[in-house]
Amino acid sequence: MKSTNITWHDSKVAKEERQNQKKHKSPVLWFTGLSGSGKSTLSVEVEKALYELGVHSYRLDGDNVRHGLNKNLGFSPEDRTENIRRIGEVAKLMNDAGLVTLTAFISPYREDRGNVRELFEDGDFIEVYTKCSLEEAEERDPKGLYKKARAGEIKGFTGIDAPYEEPHSPEITVETDQHSLEDSVKQVVNYLLENKYI
Ligand code: ADX
Repeated sequence: MKSTNITWHDSKVAKEERQNQKKHKSPVLWFTGLSGSGKSTLSVEVEKALYELGVHSYRLDGDNVRHGLNKNLGFSPEDRTENIRRIGEVAKLMNDAGLVTLTAFISPYREDRGNVRELFEDGDFIEVYTKCSLEEAEERDPKGLYKKARAGEIKGFTGIDAPYEEPHSPEITVETDQHSLEDSVKQVVNYLLENKYI
């Protein structure tokens, strides 16, 4: 913490009032998984389904955020940690604003995801593990990056020569190599409905 002499100013509108106005809660759906495991694809479809249900939501995506807010970060362990820390804070602001937030970041380190979880009240952080074998993700290789990593053109690529630490107890596990996209979307939306978030 570098800033000193700073004071917190409270709003006259509370998070709960913003949620009541929108008629739903504002959890973050934190998608985590290998590159190519389906985080972005699934979060895009869930966002659309939520929109159609009248839920106010917003999506933060690794590749997109790295074009702007986080363009000064690379893929070293330290930079990934900072990437996740910043996104955690942005998601927390959106939680306060009353939006359902969908984040799609590899977020390979358990500790970094745990630190984000701790920013939130119980129930407001929903970890969604897009579980997919490395073989399948590599087979899909939508951006051709696994191929480059195997050829040694990208160093420190998650799953090849950088770690991915699986979640121990995610709220939702979506096996994207076992189910259709449509069923995976239903699984996530049903979780929100059944647990009365929306
Ligand atoms: S994270 O590890 O810090 O959470 P993030 O989700 O923001 O990663 O970005 C991952 C995306 O960046 C991948 O989907 C891929 O398109 C691209 N990328 C580029 N270099 C790497 C790398 N070394 N490891 C993983 N992804 C990379």
